[in-house]
Amino acid sequence: MKDESIIKNYDLFDDKTLDNTIRPESIDEYIGQNDVKENIKVFVKAAKMRNEALDHVLLYGPPGLGKTTLAFIIAHELGTNIKTASGPSIEKSGDLAAILSSLEPGDVLFIDEIHRMPRYIEEILYPAMEDFSLDIIVGSEGNSRNIKIDLPPFTLVGATTRAGDLSSPLRDRFGIINKLQFYTVDELSEIIKRTSRVLDAPISDEAALELALRSRGTPRIANRLFKRVRDFAMVVGDGTITLEITKEALDRLHVDNLGLDNTDRELLSAIITKFNGGPVGVEALSSSIGEEVTTIEDVYEPYLLQMGLLKRTARGRVATDKAYEVLGLEKKPKK
Ligand SMILES: Nc1ncnc2c1ncn2[C@@H]1O[C@H](COP(=O)(O)OP(=O)(O)OP(=O)(O)O)[C@@H](O)[C@H]1O
Ligand SMILES: [Mg+2]
Repeated sequence: MKDESIIKNYDLFDDKTLDNTIRPESIDEYIGQNDVKENIKVFVKAAKMRNEALDHVLLYGPPGLGKTTLAFIIAHELGTNIKTASGPSIEKSGDLAAILSSLEPGDVLFIDEIHRMPRYIEEILYPAMEDFSLDIIVGSEGNSRNIKIDLPPFTLVGATTRAGDLSSPLRDRFGIINKLQFYTVDELSEIIKRTSRVLDAPISDEAALELALRSRGTPRIANRLFKRVRDFAMVVGDGTITLEITKEALDRLHVDNLGLDNTDRELLSAIITKFNGGPVGVEALSSSIGEEVTTIEDVYEPYLLQMGLLKRTARGRVATDKAYEVLGLEKKPKK
């Protein structure tokens, strides 16, 4: 059981220290997401030609697909500074006012998890985004007045795993809205090879492909698995990451050849065995497997949907025939 919990923790998406060393800095080092990349290149170039701030950018998609990375790249390409904040950490209007008034012309303000920003903070952002002006109330009750402060033109880059949770007035103020997609196996292989060069840990082509296949379409997971496989290669082999070592390590980490981990399989198997294949509501599923509803929706479901293992219907989640096949379970006739 202890072993299980270690594996579970490792599966979470929070390896920030690793992220920083291998994060690409320029847009040409950023692999995949070609449409998004091409568009951003054009908009950045045009903004620079006009000597204006880039329009506000919203990036959304499942965790670990490169939203934060892209925000930093945008600032890099613009040649400006980036200031960062996260939605839940901005509690007081003064916090946001302080950040906004510290910006220099053309700077990027990156707000991560922007859907978790309190509504009264959001309202300060509206005029800031639209007219680069900060409307604040100063003074105490009975003696308060509104003051208006001009801000330098800046670019807000917002990132979220849940675009649907954004209020429409906020969403409407972004001129550039991009959805990040899961990566193809080829793109992930390329990312893995890049990581191998950056960390100076050689990997064979077949091993990179195997890792890519098992990385859930997600660069963060590819990099995470790369590190674990590298450990195995150092201890068990001669340091080179071979196909054999990769397979052994990934099997030991319970990552199967579709990239599914224990929680993915648990989720599908709960739908099949406890709810006769569905439809089942996400709340019931959540209490059945002990994962938060938001974790199921944001982290697990997008990949299962993409892989055609799960369907979302009006009445709830349904396991597909492919899910039965993958788990090796028989389909029982419906009552
Ligand atoms: N296109 C890419 N090319 C190469 N590496 C990438 C790419 N996208 C992401 N990565 C790698 O994956 C890691 C995770 O990316 P990032 O932190 O930007 O994801 P995120 O979408 O912000 O995730 P979260 O929603 O959890 O904040 C980064 O450290 C980076 O090294
Ligand atoms: Mg991020």
